[in-house]
Amino acid sequence: MSASRRILLTSSIAVIFAIVVRVSLSPSPSQCRVIPRDAAWPSTDGWDSFNTSVGGKLIATIPIGAPCHQIFSSGSNISTYDQAQCDALRNTWFFPETHLVSSSSPMAYQFGNNTCNPWSSSDTPCILGGQVVYSVNATSYVDIQKAIQFSEQHNIRLVIRNTGHDYLGKSTGAHALAIWTHYMKDIKLIERYDGKNYSGPALKVGAGVEGIEAYEFASANKLMVVGGNCPTVGLAGGFTQGGGHGHLASKYGLSADQVLEWEVVTGTGEHVIANSESHPDLYWALRGGGGSTFGVVVSMTIKAYPDTFFSTAYATVLNDGTNTDALWEAVGVFIKTLPRLVDSGVYVVWVAVPFGFLLMPAIGPDLHQNDLDELLQPFTDKLGELGLQYDYQSWEKPTFLANYQSLTASWNVSDYNLGGRLIPRSLIEENPQAFTDAVRFIGSQTIISGVTFNVDKGVASPNDVAVNPYFRKALMGISLGTSVDYTNWTATLNGQDIITNVFLPKLAALAPQGGAYLNEADFQASDFKSLFYGPHYDKLSHIKSIYDPNDIFYARTAVGSDRWFEDAEGRLCKV
Ligand SMILES: Cc1cc2nc3c(=O)[nH]c(=O)nc-3n(C[C@H](O)[C@H](O)[C@H](O)COP(=O)(O)OP(=O)(O)OC[C@H]3O[C@@H](n4cnc5c(N)ncnc54)[C@H](O)[C@@H]3O)c2cc1C
Ligand SMILES: *[C@@H]1O[C@H](CO)[C@@H](O)[C@H](O)[C@H]1NC(C)=O
Ligand SMILES: *[C@@H]1O[C@H](CO)[C@@H](O)[C@H](O)[C@H]1NC(C)=O
Ligand SMILES: *[C@@H]1O[C@H](CO)[C@@H](O)[C@H](O)[C@H]1NC(C)=O
Ligand SMILES: *[C@@H]1O[C@H](CO)[C@@H](O)[C@H](O)[C@H]1NC(C)=O
Ligand SMILES: *[C@@H]1O[C@H](CO)[C@@H](O)[C@H](O)[C@H]1NC(C)=O
Ligand SMILES: *[C@@H]1O[C@H](CO)[C@@H](O)[C@H](O)[C@H]1NC(C)=O
Ligand SMILES: *[C@@H]1O[C@H](CO)[C@@H](O)[C@H](O)[C@H]1NC(C)=O
Repeated sequence: MSASRRILLTSSIAVIFAIVVRVSLSPSPSQCRVIPRDAAWPSTDGWDSFNTSVGGKLIATIPIGAPCHQIFSSGSNISTYDQAQCDALRNTWFFPETHLVSSSSPMAYQFGNNTCNPWSSSDTPCILGGQVVYSVNATSYVDIQKAIQFSEQHNIRLVIRNTGHDYLGKSTGAHALAIWTHYMKDIKLIERYDGKNYSGPALKVGAGVEGIEAYEFASANKLMVVGGNCPTVGLAGGFTQGGGHGHLASKYGLSADQVLEWEVVTGTGEHVIANSESHPDLYWALRGGGGSTFGVVVSMTIKAYPDTFFSTAYATVLNDGTNTDALWEAVGVFIKTLPRLVDSGVYVVWVAVPFGFLLMPAIGPDLHQNDLDELLQPFTDKLGELGLQYDYQSWEKPTFLANYQSLTASWNVSDYNLGGRLIPRSLIEENPQAFTDAVRFIGSQTIISGVTFNVDKGVASPNDVAVNPYFRKALMGISLGTSVDYTNWTATLNGQDIITNVFLPKLAALAPQGGAYLNEADFQASDFKSLFYGPHYDKLSHIKSIYDPNDIFYARTAVGSDRWFEDAEGRLCKV
């Protein structure tokens, strides 16, 4: 071999070596977040000293499904199998409480990327997949500041997790550090809040307070607050920051309409108060512009109202295979009664499924039982006239909480892929049949439900909040789902695609320039900017650039999320 050839060979080995070295090191940190196998990922010592700086509150994720697998594999392998624990987990998997107490488990199963599935073979290793690597069990704004600083310093993806309810996967992320706000449970009564536009009772709730905890606290003080349906959805997190509808929606509007003040740690780590006088832009943006975008909310102060009496009604009509046309004729009448119901302050939840149609329930604040029965009478009369068998029950309760506790709803999660859309009131007033036909098309194949409200009536200045203005024209928010199949991941992914490509287009065709509720929508929506944020997207994006100039907060479909993408292994990179 000649000397020159040898040099050439050696230098090409050097080139190849250089390429190999480059490939195994992280891509340019300015373009992508660092992930655990990168050289730039903090060492064990680095994580330990971070843990010390947050008072030992750092939790390394072990997915809750680990007892159903022989090993949990994350760097090293540890044995995790426990038959009894696995059986117990399978029995409680579909309850929100199972995931709520976890620092990592998303209730929307798909966003863990089929990780550590309790029903897959125990021989498959449990891995982190789409779940966060670490969480800080935050109890103060200082913990939050530390976590922001650490993730920024090391270029690590940051996630904010409260209850883990999010349907769009916004409270989980592969290779991320989470700020877990669940234990920030302070609640305080402010007997008289004196603001520019409001004086009266208010509640200051910590970031981790759940709906039911606020309801109970308010009730003990003869008050009530605007929160959601499900008891365990957080009040100050994604729910209110994204809009938030519940039993009082047709009386007082959305939860975002109630906020008087936010306590926030911004993307630059500053601890600020945002209200109508201090940081009014941030105050506005957090009222409906979406969670995980502008800052980490530490607490919020919301209006509270004097408690009152409520009436509630449930109805069930089963489809026995011979009464289908009659059933849908009655549903058509039901849909036409909705504008009058919501204008009387009623909030209505209905569900259509292949086995029937359910009103579950209609809730009327300040409304007596006989008045609610009367409002629903066109529907019940029609059911009788058509000879349909049905079950109808109604009652009245003296307080918000007594009524809330009388509801029979069961809250299963982790069982559906989700999609959703807001339905304009004008459609129901002008062409209720077209809408009923679309609901029948979907409800004959899968589950579709509507929450029905008037969130315009009770709100003096809807433009003072960032909520998609389409809400004020909407009569209902539709949610529809296809089953998660724990034994067939491909089928689960296909189910989401059917939502995106088959079911939602049926609704979109009825109101093409439409809107969707960012908390109850399809994460695959390609037009999410206009659909979720309406005309506010650019303004929200500008406000984000002020409070989170380094884009430390990211979540699927959040404002600014279009600047990032997840690669095949879940690494977050700039577009
Ligand atoms: C069973 C069920 C019932 C529901 N019922 C209703 C209902 O009746 N009405 C309604 O409007 N919606 C309802 N939702 C939707 C609900 O509003 C969303 O799931 C919402 O995102 C939950 O917020 P969270 O903070 O509890 O959940 P998480 O999943 O923990 O967080 C949701 C989002 O908010 C961000 N976030 C959380 N905390 C903070 C914080 N402190 N600061 C900044 N960002 C934060 C997260 O990063 C994420 O982006 C329901 C959902 C489920 C699963
Ligand atoms: C953080 O520190 C606490 C207290 O020392 C410890 O119990 C915990 O396991 C540590 N977390 C991690 C991820 O090491
Ligand atoms: C962990 O287990 C997996 C699967 O059994 C195996 O492929 C891998 O080599 C193991 N890793 C370590 C570090 O032991
Ligand atoms: C998700 O799972 C697929 C395999 O099913 C894998 O290729 C991909 O890397 C996973 N992503 C994450 C973030 O774990
Ligand atoms: C998180 O912190 C709370 C106290 O604030 C504690 O009760 C809880 O056990 C902690 N959870 C975990 C998983 O460390
Ligand atoms: C206060 O109320 C007035 C009148 O309803 C409205 O124009 C103004 O925008 C409100 N200001 C805030 C900060 O809510
Ligand atoms: C909810 O889950 C429980 C336990 O798995 C199950 O028994 C029940 O039928 C489910 N309810 C609904 C409404 O899906
Ligand atoms: C999984 O679901 C897909 C799509 O629905 C289907 O084609 C496939 O046959 C299913 N696989 C099994 C093993 O059932």
